[in-house]
Amino acid sequence: MTGSSSEHPEYAEKTGFETRAIHAGYEPDPTTGAVIPPIFATSTYKQDGVGGLRGGYEYSRSANPTRTALEATLAALEGGERGFAFASGLAAEHTLLQALCAPGDHVVVPDDAYGGTYRLFAKVEQPWGLAHTPARVSDVDAVRAALRPGQTRVVWVETPTNPLLNIGDIEALAGVAHEAGALLVVDNTFASPYLQQPLGLGADVVVHSTTKYCGGHSDVVGGALVVRDLEVAERIAFHQNSIGAVAGPFDAWLTLRGLKTLAVRMDRHCDNAEKVVEFLGGHPAVSQVIYPGLEEHPGHAVASRQMSRYGGIVSFRVAAGEQAAVDACGRARVFTLAESLGGIESLIEHPGRMTHASVVGTELEVPADLVRLSVGIETAEDLLADLDRALSVG
Ligand SMILES: Cc1ncc(COP(=O)(O)O)c(C=O)c1O
Repeated sequence: MTGSSSEHPEYAEKTGFETRAIHAGYEPDPTTGAVIPPIFATSTYKQDGVGGLRGGYEYSRSANPTRTALEATLAALEGGERGFAFASGLAAEHTLLQALCAPGDHVVVPDDAYGGTYRLFAKVEQPWGLAHTPARVSDVDAVRAALRPGQTRVVWVETPTNPLLNIGDIEALAGVAHEAGALLVVDNTFASPYLQQPLGLGADVVVHSTTKYCGGHSDVVGGALVVRDLEVAERIAFHQNSIGAVAGPFDAWLTLRGLKTLAVRMDRHCDNAEKVVEFLGGHPAVSQVIYPGLEEHPGHAVASRQMSRYGGIVSFRVAAGEQAAVDACGRARVFTLAESLGGIESLIEHPGRMTHASVVGTELEVPADLVRLSVGIETAEDLLADLDRALSVG
């Protein structure tokens, strides 16, 4: 009943990603044959005599079969030993930091992390006693220089980063972290396990906001951790149960349903993003397109090594400045003006005033003329026409 990838060995790593996404983590229900895991809407479980647990289930904060199916599927997709599902990405992050660190410890964080992640470090973990140093994840030497040997427990990397799409070299950063006795944590939200597998490149823990591509339909908030080391897994399991910020069975079910189609969705996200990048690159209102798939992107070579494709997020800067960027966001119609990303529908946002407003005035502030797109899976021509309308003045 753990979220272990070895629970269904027939769907272990030798099968293809799509097969694992659809079959790993769950066997058709022995009683009814239900091919999809039921939503186990129960808080507690009948015991066969005191301590006689059926399948290890005792209380749904500790474990719930719908959540177990999701956790095992996540582990199988990331190539990890165990997965853990949480109520949100930030709940997963907080639980992980509590499990790995103690007051007096130190972590290195990306200098352009997702704003909510940075707020967690600065406003929640720091007052608790966990120090942090922001460093550019695309600069291995800067990350090395930010380490405090003996004190740094975690090097935290997002790659690609949100919203500037910087690329961290996972293999190199794992080496740097391990030399200093720290663990490498990779937030794989933007790439998803379909495009990038950090554990295979040396990372110790993968973090997801499953709210994004894993869930994929903008209908559920969730988070996940996947680990390859069973000792780390035990610490996380203890803290997951002790803190209690778990995914409920309805949310776990929605996320699991989303994961089954991750591969086909990601391919279409990438196809559409490539068309959007080409279109924006030739548009006079755009001063810069930021996408790791572009050869001029400084992280292109590393991204090509560690990602199978470059993802569905495209950022760009508007030549006429902040107000023009804000206005373009307001004029889009097919692209919905909204926070979040990774769903089937295209979204547009102004990071400086929306997702990253919490880091304005800090080292993590993003350019004011920046627009971030989460390119969805609609008809590509409709997306291009919408961007053209949004960027046309008058
Ligand atoms: C890269 C990244 N990590 C973590 C999070 C936090 O996840 P959640 O919003 O599910 O708490 C987000 C949310 O936008 C994100 O973009």
